[in-house]
Amino acid sequence: MHYENIHVEIRDLVALITLNRPKTFNALSDEMMDELSNALDMVEDNESIHAVVLTGGEKVFAAGADIKAMKNYSYMDAYKCNFITRNWERVSRCRKPVIAAVAGYALGGGCELAMMCDFILAADTAKFGQPEIKLGILPGAGGTQRLTRLIGKSKAMDLCLTGRMMDAVEAERAGLVSRIVPVSALIEDAVKTADLIAAQSLTAVMMIKECVNRALETSLSEGMLFERRTFHAVFATEDQKEGMEAFINKRQPALKHR
Ligand code: CAA
Repeated sequence: MHYENIHVEIRDLVALITLNRPKTFNALSDEMMDELSNALDMVEDNESIHAVVLTGGEKVFAAGADIKAMKNYSYMDAYKCNFITRNWERVSRCRKPVIAAVAGYALGGGCELAMMCDFILAADTAKFGQPEIKLGILPGAGGTQRLTRLIGKSKAMDLCLTGRMMDAVEAERAGLVSRIVPVSALIEDAVKTADLIAAQSLTAVMMIKECVNRALETSLSEGMLFERRTFHAVFATEDQKEGMEAFINKRQPALKHR
């Protein structure tokens, strides 16, 4: 499949997806989000892809939804085309792990897109923010919801109400990003991390992803029950038998991802 707004490269078990509209600072147009959804459909369908790295450019991950494209939207336009929900949420529904590798600006929808991924690796140049307030609007792809769950009410309010940016150090301190790496090593580190995940049992990886995500959706007791039942279910997998057998026999497991 040929894409105009993203670039997809398969590196062994990992799909490296790069947002690619540099002239508009990777503004997230409807076409780009359709292509990203399509690429993730391909990833889910392809059994030999086990993990995804989603990145942008060196100076900008993404500067948000495309302001020029949505400026004249009416309520009816937004409602009828199911704006955002229609194609953006595909990222959060991906069952395989998705790492956001962020360098430069991740603003508005760019920050929200990064938060839809499973975790964020930030370059030391990364800048996160929800500047929608400066446009007379509010975040519409999770900036008031996911951000609040990830960094707490006080900082989420601060960012959403002032529209200020936070740098990588503040984002790591706040718990938005898992770690900071030098910008020159970002892609290599993200792909290495994805390789590490891709080498594990894909079934177990997908189960862990479901369980961790469930923690943000439910009470502790319901979440614990979900984890416990999923843990019980893992004993039905071939990888559990092989993983434990290999450990006991001091050899590497031959995983079948089922
Ligand atoms: N949409 C459309 N075009 C954008 C854009 C966006 N979100 N962000 C940047 N661009 C375009 C600019 O219009 C400009 O294009 P031209 O050369 O044709 O004028 C080009 O990208 C470069 O931008 P700047 O000249 O502004 O570059 P800068 O270095 O001075 O500033 C920036 C960079 C701080 C990222 C600035 O461009 C900026 O503030 N962008 C908008 C950020 C924003 O408000 N994002 C929220 C969007 S709304 C949203 O995302 C809603 C939601 O929750 C889903």
